Amino acid sequence: MTGASGQLGYELARSLGLLGDLILLHRSELDMSEPLSVRRAIRQVKPDWVVNTAAYMAVEAAEENSRQVLAINTESPILAAEELKKTGGLLIHFTTGYVFDGSKKQAYVETDTPNPINSYGQSQWLAEQGIAASGCDYLLLRTGWRYSLRRANFVLGMKNRLPCEQEIRIVDDQLGNPVWVRHAAEAVLALLSREAWHNGYVREHRGLYHLGSSGEASWFDLAREISSILGKGGCRTLAHLVPVSTVEQGSKVMRPLNSMLDSRKFEQDFGIRLPAWQLALEQCMSEAE
Ligand SMILES: NC(=O)c1ccc[n+]([C@@H]2O[C@H](COP(=O)([O-])OP(=O)(O)OC[C@H]3O[C@@H](n4cnc5c(N)ncnc54)[C@H](OP(=O)(O)O)[C@@H]3O)[C@@H](O)[C@H]2O)c1
Repeated sequence: MTGASGQLGYELARSLGLLGDLILLHRSELDMSEPLSVRRAIRQVKPDWVVNTAAYMAVEAAEENSRQVLAINTESPILAAEELKKTGGLLIHFTTGYVFDGSKKQAYVETDTPNPINSYGQSQWLAEQGIAASGCDYLLLRTGWRYSLRRANFVLGMKNRLPCEQEIRIVDDQLGNPVWVRHAAEAVLALLSREAWHNGYVREHRGLYHLGSSGEASWFDLAREISSILGKGGCRTLAHLVPVSTVEQGSKVMRPLNSMLDSRKFEQDFGIRLPAWQLALEQCMSEAE
């Protein structure tokens, strides 16, 4: 497994250890900015499956570092897929709703055509195509806005800022599905344990899936919910939240206004549905107390 120090990687490392010998590769052992090292690692280990959560995640900085972004997010996962095609291994690769341009009014389904509007989304879309073309057994899991109580992310940032600041301006015109990484990791554990019992179960359902929480939210909705949970927990003075548009926020990079993901295919094929985002958020935040 790659990206073990990341939000999702940390949760997967906790869960997937139940399935047997799990090899966790940190950046110091496998630097994905050198794609050939991925091929070498797979030839050496010959894994039954690879879960790739390593990625260049800084959406704004990605615009300036396209060579590195492509190496980490595109070339390395494709080389992994090509190598796994030869060894017969399964690839589970995480990707993003940022492959879409956001112009659709409803949640995106797997058959909608991507049209990324920033370098990060483009690198992930190219990876998706290369992995699919490799002919290996794969699951491509597009997820929503990830959060946890580890590493920098929106929820942790808000939880820390709300009690300390007077006013926080939050974008209210971008819509997505917040996903607690623990639930995404538990979904993967459920899939791989079925694969272990019934060899080929996941492979029979190989392909692209959307995996978002139930229900959608704007960043403002998410911040308001975090504030409400903190308030219920006894926090008396919390910052006033001010909704602003993406244009008013003045981001240097374009982001899709809609990256909502319709996860019904995942639910139909695997019988797994992530909980409502409000419930998941409450569970996640209660972990800190
Ligand atoms: N976060 C989101 O909102 C979101 C949304 C949709 C999809 N995704 C996808 O989910 C996956 C993981 O997301 P996350 O939230 O867990 O990200 P994260 O917490 O930022 O973790 C990223 C991981 O990638 C590793 N990494 C970065 N560059 C590397 C390199 N050159 N070689 C090896 N490892 C490297 C990082 O290692 P270091 O600790 O050494 O930096 C870290 O372990 C990615 O595929 C991402 O595209 C994320």
